[in-house]
Amino acid sequence: MIKNFVYTALATAAIILLTSCNSQPCNIVQGEVWLDTAGNPINAHGSGMLYHDGVYYWYGEYKKGETILPEWATWECYRTDVTGVSCYSSTDLVNWTFEGIVLSAVKDDPTHDLHPSKVLERPKVIYNSKTQKFVMWAHVESADYSKAAAGVAVSNSPTGPFTYLGSFRPNNAMSRDQTLFVDDDGKAYQFASSEHNASRYINELTDDYLQPTGRYTRNFIDMSREAPAVFKKDGKYYMLSSGCTGWDPNQAELAVADSIMGQWTAIGNPCTGVDADKTFYAQSTYVQQVYGKKDLYIAMFDRWNKTDLEDSRYVWLPIEFDNDKITIPWRESWSMDEYENQR
Ligand code: DGJ
Repeated sequence: MIKNFVYTALATAAIILLTSCNSQPCNIVQGEVWLDTAGNPINAHGSGMLYHDGVYYWYGEYKKGETILPEWATWECYRTDVTGVSCYSSTDLVNWTFEGIVLSAVKDDPTHDLHPSKVLERPKVIYNSKTQKFVMWAHVESADYSKAAAGVAVSNSPTGPFTYLGSFRPNNAMSRDQTLFVDDDGKAYQFASSEHNASRYINELTDDYLQPTGRYTRNFIDMSREAPAVFKKDGKYYMLSSGCTGWDPNQAELAVADSIMGQWTAIGNPCTGVDADKTFYAQSTYVQQVYGKKDLYIAMFDRWNKTDLEDSRYVWLPIEFDNDKITIPWRESWSMDEYENQR
């Protein structure tokens, strides 16, 4: 009897450990403080990811210190001082090593885009196999968000240091929330919220990825979408995005296209389950395919804490594909081990 009780208790404890998985490396747990391998909270917001030579690199806004709402603010333009872009590396997407600040703030020049008094958001890094350079684009802003420009930096290594080349408005259009996408043919594109966030520009980039070619399309006109995250699956292009409500959550939307510069069609909110109409109180930032796993694409979101931006958290969810139906169901926690290995 006692023996049976002990066995049952041990089995129950084992099941709880295996399924709750609050400890790394087995699980992604939503909205928790996610520690790096040195035991510090991962600080990389509005992130982008790069997979290079078997390693994932996670780049993001290093939001350090006090969150400020300027006294002249007429809207909730909460910000932290620019401290730079952080980078973490991992081979399993769960255990992340801090590689340092790969693009640093410029403290001694108040006119510089990277001066602490400015805003730097949504850095994305891509690799150019022709030039063998790592190219970063980011949204660079004035504290009042009137600059609406893209800043470009370059490095010989994924872990930096990146050299800042300057900023501009691609194709003379405003450029705010942005991402980069490299197609299978090596052509790269910048997707940016433009025209006071009312529309989305898709800007084709030059072969070195440092400039727009001048070829672009205007999309989602008057639809006010932010937070673009672009991925390709089975020959189709997808763009996950948010609505436009500052730091507050809103409903996500997925759009699809047969070609990047072609027609994009909105196909609705892919999120399902609790708080799906508020994107699980988070906002899209990137979609990363997991190599070695069959059809595993992770939709990555920021759960912003607008009055303490440094303490913003991460929500990472697997995208489910069922023929043409694409959903992002809510899951409190999950493990990559659940997904079939790709042969
Ligand atoms: C929403 C954007 O997606 C964020 O990156 C940031 O720019 C905030 N707006 C600022 O309110």
